[in-house]
Amino acid sequence: MSTRTWDAATYDRVSAPQVSWSEAILDRLELQGDELVLDAGCGSGRVTELLLQRLPKGRVIALDADADMVRATRERFAGDPRVEVVHQSLSEMELAEVRERRDGLKTELQELWARRANRC
Ligand SMILES: C[S@@+](CC[C@H](N)C(=O)[O-])C[C@H]1O[C@@H](n2cnc3c(N)ncnc32)[C@H](O)[C@@H]1O
Repeated sequence: MSTRTWDAATYDRVSAPQVSWSEAILDRLELQGDELVLDAGCGSGRVTELLLQRLPKGRVIALDADADMVRATRERFAGDPRVEVVHQSLSEMELAEVRERRDGLKTELQELWARRANRC
């Protein structure tokens, strides 16, 4: 894991440029709104918030290697079931792990559709 540490409160206050660059990238994403998206290096969660606005039926795994950033993001999304905050370096995250979670989401959505179909 990285040895650099962040002051999440300060970053949150001064990160308007990063947020605006990230927003331009988010605008280019072709999202249906129900995906599971990995926000790698989520920082204090400001961009995660913008991402969630584009995912009304989706979920986000917000991952960061820094303890203070993770604490701030957990605080920001406390009680929001659409966000899972993970304290981990991206280099330690196995691709298989991402795949498993994605498949998990797909299963949940399939069950939801099956429940709806049974009600008709
Ligand atoms: C400049 S901040 C950007 C935060 C946020 N994405 C934003 O746009 O406001 C970079 C973040 O990436 C995280 N980071 C850097 N390398 C990482 C790695 N290998 N795995 C996970 N997080 C990492 C840092 O801890 C930091 O919170």
